[in-house]
Amino acid sequence: MIAWRRSGMDDPDRLSLWNLHLQEDEGAEVMAFVAIRERMRRWLAGVCHSVVFTESGRDVGYAIYRYRATDPDPQGEGGVYLRRFFVDRTCRGRGVGRGMIRLFTEEIIRGRSILLKAYESNPGGQAFWRALGFEPYYVGFQRRAIAYCARRVDGDGS
Ligand SMILES: CC(C)(COP(=O)(O)OP(=O)(O)OC[C@H]1O[C@@H](n2cnc3c(N)ncnc32)[C@H](O)[C@@H]1OP(=O)(O)O)[C@@H](O)C(=O)NCCC(=O)NCCS
Repeated sequence: MIAWRRSGMDDPDRLSLWNLHLQEDEGAEVMAFVAIRERMRRWLAGVCHSVVFTESGRDVGYAIYRYRATDPDPQGEGGVYLRRFFVDRTCRGRGVGRGMIRLFTEEIIRGRSILLKAYESNPGGQAFWRALGFEPYYVGFQRRAIAYCARRVDGDGS
């Protein structure tokens, strides 16, 4: 049976290691561990909330989230932006993630709408959200940084 507890500054190393694994698993660019831990501290000291899920007393995954006043629910009481959601690699494929989202929805955010990003490079994550009834909401685009040389204008051209 899955349960949950609030976590925070007491768990930065655990959460940071899971965050590193998450970046690897979803095909994101992997940050250095110290940079992840620094960012994790900032998140947890700021507006983000975090919870750790357990099964028979063992930690099996975590979620980091924050409340949003409007998007995607401008008329309602506001939604939740689910910033991180992760099941430990040794616990996947047997309903843990589904159980975590059920608890998250029912006990933690009490039915509020959920918005999240899933990378193109993470088809398994996308399949998970679809299996749970989530629908695609927007497509994000990016252009990677390009080398840029400022053109000097030495005169007015006359
Ligand atoms: C995605 C993740 C949370 C799934 O956790 P899980 O505990 O293995 O998922 P569950 O066993 O609860 O699966 C729930 C449903 O999702 C489906 N699903 C889960 N992972 C899947 C995958 N890789 N490919 C296809 N379907 C998948 C299951 O088939 C299941 O469907 P069903 O209940 O209709 O049979 C986990 O693999 C993970 O943490 N991955 C790395 C981090 C990540 O991608 N997070 C999401 C970022 S957007």
